[in-house]
Amino acid sequence: MITFKPVALFGLLAGIIMSLGSLTVVANHDSGSSIAKRISAVGRICVEGQSCKAPVAEVIEVAAGPRTGESVYASGCAACHDSGAAGAPMLGDVAAWSPRLDKGIDKLFSNAWFGYNSMPAKGMCKRCSEDEIRDAIIHLVDNSK
Ligand code: HEC
Repeated sequence: MITFKPVALFGLLAGIIMSLGSLTVVANHDSGSSIAKRISAVGRICVEGQSCKAPVAEVIEVAAGPRTGESVYASGCAACHDSGAAGAPMLGDVAAWSPRLDKGIDKLFSNAWFGYNSMPAKGMCKRCSEDEIRDAIIHLVDNSK
């Protein structure tokens, strides 16, 4: 996501410089809206099969694809499951996880997705997909057996 920012910034700067150039040298033959169009065309990244009308941030998020269970875990779940905060069963704590594993992955998933006692829904990762939460749980329990 970060890697595309300089491109958008460069496009913006290039657009401004180009528009300044045309305003001063070629006596304003660019209308404001054509300048805006040029800037947005450079700053936008389109994914094949998409209309290219979504804002840049959304398009890049789609292009980035789903995150791995490990990265979802690290960026959210770890805050509680690495520290035991709020009484969370910790990663690697076999004794704490073994009775939970007996519930089966589907039950663990629905408890993580909808929330369960002090376990907040989706582990507070609002934008996480079902697959991302499921993969994060798999990462958690695979390292706690
Ligand atoms: C704010 C702290 C917190 C965060 C963040 C958090 N958890 Fe939890 N989680 C808990 C607590 C506390 C429990 C224990 C709930 C209980 O058994 O009463 C728990 C329990 C669980 C369980 C076991 C549920 C069961 O049925 O026994 C799973 C699976 C789980 N968390 C997955 C995740 C995943 C995946 C994430 C990240 C997407 C996450 N958690 C983020 C606090 C957290």
